[in-house]
Amino acid sequence: MRVCVVGGGGREHVLAAVLSRSADEVVVTPGNAGIPGSSDRDPAEVDADLFVVGPEQPLVAGLADQLRADGRLVFGPGADGARLEGSKRWMKDLLHEAGVPTARSAAFTEVEPALAFLASLEGPWVVKTDGLAAGKGVLVTDDVDQAGADVAAKLSGAAFGDAGRTVVIEEGLVGPELSVLAVCDGTRAVALAPAQDHKRLGDGDEGPNTGGMGAYSPVPVAPPELVDTVLETAVLPTLHALRRRGIDYRGVLYAGLMLTEQGPRVLEFNVRFGDPEAQVVLPRMASDLTELLAEAAAGRLRHEPEFVADCAVTVVCAAEGYPEAPRRGDRIEGLDAAGAVDGVTVYCAGVTGAGDRALLTAGGRVLDVTALGPTLDEARRRAYRAVSHLSWPGMQYRRDIAATAVGTSGPPSGAADPAGR
Ligand code: AMP
Ligand code: GLY
Repeated sequence: MRVCVVGGGGREHVLAAVLSRSADEVVVTPGNAGIPGSSDRDPAEVDADLFVVGPEQPLVAGLADQLRADGRLVFGPGADGARLEGSKRWMKDLLHEAGVPTARSAAFTEVEPALAFLASLEGPWVVKTDGLAAGKGVLVTDDVDQAGADVAAKLSGAAFGDAGRTVVIEEGLVGPELSVLAVCDGTRAVALAPAQDHKRLGDGDEGPNTGGMGAYSPVPVAPPELVDTVLETAVLPTLHALRRRGIDYRGVLYAGLMLTEQGPRVLEFNVRFGDPEAQVVLPRMASDLTELLAEAAAGRLRHEPEFVADCAVTVVCAAEGYPEAPRRGDRIEGLDAAGAVDGVTVYCAGVTGAGDRALLTAGGRVLDVTALGPTLDEARRRAYRAVSHLSWPGMQYRRDIAATAVGTSGPPSGAADPAGR
């Protein structure tokens, strides 16, 4: 089977790598200078048996609909289903309709009623842009005045343009986070192995929210029974509510959850593979990803995905200035040495070619350093050993990816940062 993956980041790199285990050919449009099989052709011009759309923007813009209208087999929802991610207000309405446990919330376009709602909540307070903001449109704060100022900045359009002209205000939930990615064929859903992402920029969950600074899988606090519960109480009711609205949802339903003392609560649904969750979940697949996605795209899911017992850890290496204003154009050193560490694969996200074999930084999240190992601890050691070979001016990464899960708080010993930070 020939597969076309649409997108050009670390998620598309790992999708292409794992699909290549069983596909005859994988083309990635546009891909990037670090992804084999990259092509600058328009996806509509690619001759493929299966299209897998990676990022949310083209899904929200209706790319899957256009390809299906041309008779192509597509894994990824149409614009109707992608509204789940394109509008948090719409998503919250659907979750309420479906009876899915989620944080109390309300949506506003005017400042005064928004401030009144903030005052009615106990805190922490959460303010989200209704529209897409690449994972950066969410403020979680213990300071109600800061929440109020954020509401005003978002509603005025100053902070996130039109994406922020409607805000969703939520009660803040507390607990470990979990990502459960389910593959859906319109009526059925199967869960992939769970992962935990690290959304904040800094160690100890300090600093601004990002698209994700690292991830690991499996997750010790999420045994298979918990994943089954999420499938039964969150994913399937959502899929069925979509169906009742006439939406034939074929793609990933990615539940971002908070494991509260009252049970799992959905923070959000995304309509695609998580990034960097895909980088830890997909390499652990023992069964055939191409077959699974083709079945879902055809509305005929037959197989349950299977996973190896090995663990995976991804550390994201980001550019200086990420997430606000990432610096670009720096030469990346140490890629070969990093990739030579046992169990390690470096997936390329924000990179471009330098004319020779070298790569330059070209985005916020630049590289996703993924290690497999027999335990989370060993996978983590390998990932940080690989990171220690990488450098460019201002490279930043978290030292505590998967640290809580393996019972430590810092970087593993023997993984010294070459820049001495
Ligand atoms: P979202 O894009 O809605 O997943 O939000 C991004 C991140 O903000 C989540 O991964 C959480 O870390 C945090 N967050 C979102 N909603 C809440 C909430 N209701 N309570 C606490 N933290 C939240
Ligand atoms: N890792 C968070 C996301 O993909 O939205």
